[in-house]
Amino acid sequence: MNYLELSKEKKAQLLDEVNKEFNAFVAKGYKVDISRGKPCSEQLDIGMEMFKGIDKALESMPKNYRNYGMLSGIPEMQQLFADMLGLKPANIIVGGSSSLNLMYDTIQRALQFGVCGEKPWNDSKVKFICPIPGYDRHFAICEHFGIEMISVPMNEDGPIMDVVEKLVSLDDSIKGIWCVPKYSNPSGCVYSNEVVDRLAKMKTKAKDFRIFWDNAYVVHDLTDTPEKLANIMTVAEKYGNEDRIYEFASTSKVTLAGAGVACIGASEKNIKDILSHLTIETISYDKVNQYIHYLFLKDMNNIAAIMKKQREVIKPKFDKFINAFTEEFSTDSNIAKWTNPKGGYFITLDVYQGCAKRVYELCKEAGLTLTKAGAPFPYGRDDDDKTLRIAPTFTSTSDLDISIAILICCVKKACLEKLLED
Ligand SMILES: Cc1ncc(COP(=O)(O)O)c(C=O)c1O
Repeated sequence: MNYLELSKEKKAQLLDEVNKEFNAFVAKGYKVDISRGKPCSEQLDIGMEMFKGIDKALESMPKNYRNYGMLSGIPEMQQLFADMLGLKPANIIVGGSSSLNLMYDTIQRALQFGVCGEKPWNDSKVKFICPIPGYDRHFAICEHFGIEMISVPMNEDGPIMDVVEKLVSLDDSIKGIWCVPKYSNPSGCVYSNEVVDRLAKMKTKAKDFRIFWDNAYVVHDLTDTPEKLANIMTVAEKYGNEDRIYEFASTSKVTLAGAGVACIGASEKNIKDILSHLTIETISYDKVNQYIHYLFLKDMNNIAAIMKKQREVIKPKFDKFINAFTEEFSTDSNIAKWTNPKGGYFITLDVYQGCAKRVYELCKEAGLTLTKAGAPFPYGRDDDDKTLRIAPTFTSTSDLDISIAILICCVKKACLEKLLED
């Protein structure tokens, strides 16, 4: 049904029906939440397997792992992250439990001390390119440090490179770009080989420009035919631009969110530079947790088996949303368009222009918490007011049915109200 072509009477009649449904949801007093990309309890149970028989298993841990030292992390986890990201172990620093923490630290260091002997970024104005829609916490870091954000829209295969290339070639205050290259948060898109190539080779006016390659969903496939992402470090090396890349990953959604292991991957020169500061910040990260992770994760084949278990829990949740959207909104409905990601943690739902905030508010009234409308945009500003981020993983399967019913009802209500108003 094409909502735009309905007569005024038909729209009013549909709105009447939807209002009744909406009031019934409000009366029920539901309390459901699809706002954050958190693993659900069943997924975390998979991670808890890590601790089975751990006191015995820990007997194999080298004795020095119990003590201070080894700032770059234990070699076993350096190797594992190197295999995951296609880097060399020497190009990996294994950190604490959060890659976001490593990103924040990396920006703070660059602002205060500069990178690899260059001037501190903070000596003058700093700007970052933010592909949109994007990850709200990246944007929060920029806002926190007063970094001006320049939005660049995303295509289905990454940011629009003509725009990125032009911006970075003209302005030396643009020091970085955020990228979630595989199963992007929130669109789920995967950067194409062409986009990776252009990012790696583009001319930047700032010689201390950095790509923040947040590979948070590198092994988080939802299908048997995962998308392939080019190895940006290998490509950048080809152009002599290897120092441009800071790569991040973690096991937050492989083992335990908030109690996993994170890493930063970078060129030899960058690693040396980072370690020169890190050695002041800490004596070492938690090597015991790193070793426990190594015992559990073992190698890439075993990680694939663990991620298959994760997928078995979350794929049906993604399917529920996609099937419901497909059933409720035809491709020509003009009031809802959604992504169908092959991995990661999110679905992007675009509603009729000018309605996203209203959908968010209506959902709240009916008991469903969504990620705030506008969150996937710098400064929370979605100029079209149309994009919503859906996080299917955390909610229990039974709550998911209610969440989907409320969401669909609120999309219809907000859009019909707007169409009648127009
Ligand atoms: C793109 C992206 N990067 C980083 C993170 C946070 O990762 P970590 O738990 O390693 O800090 C998330 C969490 O949702 C994310 O979506």
